Amino acid sequence: MQKVIGIDAGGTLTKVAYLDDHNEFQFKAFPSKDFSLVRDWIEAHPEIDEIGITGGRTEQLLAVLESLKSIHYIVEFEATVKGVKHLLKKEGHDIKKSIITNIGTGTSIHYMEEDKQVRVGGTGIGGGTLTGLSTLITGLSDFEEITTIAKHGKRDYIDLFVKDIFEGMEPPIEGHLTASNFGKVNILNNNTYPVPDLLATIQALVGEVITTLSIQYADANNSETIIYIGSTLTNNDHLKEVIANYTILKKHTPIFLNNCGFSGAIGALLNKLEQSEAEGKISVKKRGWDI
Ligand SMILES: Nc1ncnc2c1ncn2[C@@H]1O[C@H](COP(=O)(O)OP(=O)(O)OP(=O)(O)O)[C@@H](O)[C@H]1O
Ligand SMILES: [Mg+2]
Repeated sequence: MQKVIGIDAGGTLTKVAYLDDHNEFQFKAFPSKDFSLVRDWIEAHPEIDEIGITGGRTEQLLAVLESLKSIHYIVEFEATVKGVKHLLKKEGHDIKKSIITNIGTGTSIHYMEEDKQVRVGGTGIGGGTLTGLSTLITGLSDFEEITTIAKHGKRDYIDLFVKDIFEGMEPPIEGHLTASNFGKVNILNNNTYPVPDLLATIQALVGEVITTLSIQYADANNSETIIYIGSTLTNNDHLKEVIANYTILKKHTPIFLNNCGFSGAIGALLNKLEQSEAEGKISVKKRGWDI
């Protein structure tokens, strides 16, 4: 591996991005509740001597690292947008302006346009809500388990849809839209709910709130596309489907990028590479590395 790494110390996960000897990105994620794992991994790779870092837990991680490596901090949303632009280019997208919705522990929403980027808003509903509610309601707390099981669930006996309210009438909006997440519980009074159904319904609640808000910001900023990123989407096709369907229904274009959970870590890495190059420490262009 090469000597520069990027770290995004987030509320739940600490993401690391680095380049291997073939200039290909490699990624690693560690739970943020145990920074000694990150420290051990860095110490096991003595070739690392420059670190670009971002994320809300930066100070807490640096306190554990105690290393003398050259460290360069970049604010989270700048790192995120930098990483997203890189991934867009890599995947051949040509997006002039877009909303970027980062579904982390919580959700942060940005607007990006050429060289301009602003944080436009956010919501506390995010990946932490998904795992938190899942734990309280079903007892399951493992993200992979939650998302795998959610795929097999049905929402029909828990969520109240528009068509359920307007039974026998022409509804004013499309009947399959959710009228009330979890709204059927006290109408049907079922006694038991299968775990997959509960998890699918929690995913839909999280996905629909985030999409609704993202669409409002997209409309306010005249943006057709919404790029959804963050580790909550990792191997989570069910959530992506909820988000994509609703975004498309509202006449916007959803974009999901590979490795989107690592956008911040990639941005921190690229920023550190640029800084080292500016200081003459490395020659990025000479290596054929296009940032
Ligand atoms: N291995 C995992 N362990 C725990 N949560 C995971 C895992 N993989 C994906 N997740 C999901 O990803 C979410 C965290 O996403 P992400 O890493 O983008 O956020 P963060 O950067 O830690 O938080 P924030 O940006 O809000 O500070 C979790 O809340 C969970 O829903
Ligand atoms: Mg984050």
